[in-house]
Amino acid sequence: MTKSKTIFACQNCGAQSPKWLGRCPDCSEWNTYVEETIVNLASPSPAHDAFSTAPKSLSEIQSDVGMHVPIGINELDRVLGSGYVPGSVTLIGGDPGIGKSTIILQALSSAARRGQPCLYISGEESASQIKLRADRMGIKEANLLVVTENSVERVLEHIKKISPQIAAIDSIQTMYTGEIQSAPGTISQIRDSAGKLMYLSKASGVAMFLVGHVTKDGSIAGPKVLEHMVDTVLYFEGERGHPFRILRTFKNRFGSTNEIGVFEMTGKGLLEVSNPSRIFLAERPSSVAGSVVVSSLEGSRPVLLEVQALISGSGLTNPRRTAIGLDAGRVALLVAVLEKIVGLQLADQDIFLNVAGGIKIVEPAADLGVIAAVNSSFANRAIDPETIVIGEVGLTGEVRAVLGCDIRLKEAEKMGFKRAIVPKSNLKTKIPAKMDVIGVTSVDSCLQTLF
Ligand code: TYD
Ligand code: MG
Repeated sequence: MTKSKTIFACQNCGAQSPKWLGRCPDCSEWNTYVEETIVNLASPSPAHDAFSTAPKSLSEIQSDVGMHVPIGINELDRVLGSGYVPGSVTLIGGDPGIGKSTIILQALSSAARRGQPCLYISGEESASQIKLRADRMGIKEANLLVVTENSVERVLEHIKKISPQIAAIDSIQTMYTGEIQSAPGTISQIRDSAGKLMYLSKASGVAMFLVGHVTKDGSIAGPKVLEHMVDTVLYFEGERGHPFRILRTFKNRFGSTNEIGVFEMTGKGLLEVSNPSRIFLAERPSSVAGSVVVSSLEGSRPVLLEVQALISGSGLTNPRRTAIGLDAGRVALLVAVLEKIVGLQLADQDIFLNVAGGIKIVEPAADLGVIAAVNSSFANRAIDPETIVIGEVGLTGEVRAVLGCDIRLKEAEKMGFKRAIVPKSNLKTKIPAKMDVIGVTSVDSCLQTLF
């Protein structure tokens, strides 16, 4: 027996209400409520049964360790935790045009080349458009099947019939199920479609990749709920106009969430960048004021990045504070430290900060580098280009220890840096023999060493 009822659901966050609301009380977005009909199935569908088993003791249950199957693209495999896990569902989110379809097609092609049958399901592009893209990237694996489809029920049939090892759905927002009456792309459609695909994945062991579009506020369009349901959430990010793309793990039930994969978008698809430091430092100007090299630890891999600062006298009542690739709140904090502790007069100065290469720094180990860059531009004095600056800065101007100082220094040595400024408390770790490593305890002592 089925019973249907009408609810109103926020298309941004998935909150539900029995009546229409102009503003969502959960996420504060305006005009996001849409009427949706939901069907409550009196008994769960057979697909749901795949998940229910008799209770067992932990020792009887087989673990998933060693279940990872490599796809053959190193940068992607590392982000997933050394490959995909059969029966897992991975969500790949990203802005339109960032390259989600491209990476998925390349991943499937690579897996197919390794003898794993793959199915690519597109709800957005026609088969000939996909063919055009594949030709451009030189993909012609016989093991890779392509189908254009919007109905989840038919997608499930295809997957059951073909039984591939990996199935990719591009995108989840274009899928709809005939069981509920709301329009494709609404919260309940996305949630139901994803649920059906997920249960099939768990029951049959097919690894699934779902592509999801991202809304302007950066979450995967509509369904925050999707992020809870799936096993792994990856974000594909990058700046428009820059060829570099970063694949970042947001959630991973089978591995670390700190790993990144770096790619370069070329005319023939995405190329792996196995040595990101070299690429990001390639165009660094030498011996100019306002440029400093910092180290950002991305999972197990340190990446050297150039932070640039430009400080110039402002004619504005509220001088500009613009930070690209850095957290604006963090930058405001560091500017306050520079004003109060170091005594720089920045109140009438525009401050622009940029991380070269369109990369985002998400950890505080770059703090000391930002301080050094701002100071360098303000004083118009260059920092020695063979010096790297590492350290977290506290509100009293103290320099705090960072994680993984030894591997950061090793990477810097590999890239030819001769001198490093690090937090003094990190000096206990192993230090590369060929580098001159200087420990500092405060912002003041760092600036004295640098200038
Ligand atoms: P696409 O994978 O279609 O993005 P998404 O699925 O995330 O919307 O990638 C679109 C962009 O990538 C498009 O602007 C063109 C560019 N591109 C290349 O530069 N080279 C290529 O080989 C391919 C396939 C795409
Ligand atoms: Mg696409």
